[in-house]
Amino acid sequence: MGRILAVVAGAFLAAGALLGCTEPGGAARPEAAQPLSDERDAIPLSDAERSLVLAEMRLMLESTEGVVAGLASNDMRAVEQAAARSGLGASGTVDQTMHASLPEAFVHMGAAAHGGFDDIAILAREGAGVDAVTMRLSQTLSQCTSCHAAFRVERHD
Ligand code: HEC
Repeated sequence: MGRILAVVAGAFLAAGALLGCTEPGGAARPEAAQPLSDERDAIPLSDAERSLVLAEMRLMLESTEGVVAGLASNDMRAVEQAAARSGLGASGTVDQTMHASLPEAFVHMGAAAHGGFDDIAILAREGAGVDAVTMRLSQTLSQCTSCHAAFRVERHD
């Protein structure tokens, strides 16, 4: 087992070296799985706007954590509360307050992610089972990953 791991690790290091995934100092980069060029569209934002967007992201991750924890312990009240914090109705989501600074596709995916949390809260409140809530969570998480694949934020003055 240890030998197999060593072979696999060796293969990764060799691939990294071939692809030039080394720092100037020669150490392999831990994030070697990342694409070498960043093809995501950059959204230019002021520091304050960027902080708002990232704070909202962290809130959505917290909601995800709460929903998964609630599902794991079959506590639908906890699922509902965690999801509701990131719903469209939660006060001042960035796609509402910063609409003008954000690309249309970003606003659309952001609203879909928030709407997903609303649906999860409703499902949990109305007594839907773990399977139905998990399915809606998985659809909601695909909004996260699609948007993350498409966009990054960039500071402008
Ligand atoms: C509408 C687009 C969009 C959606 C939907 C989206 N994100 Fe993001 N998220 C971003 C962008 C853009 C960044 C900044 C990435 C960068 O600049 O490298 C980001 C960053 C983050 C970060 C890092 C925050 C920080 O402080 O650096 C977390 C965590 C995150 N997102 C979680 C989530 C989760 C969880 C979801 C889904 C429930 C989600 N995001 C949905 C666009 C989105």
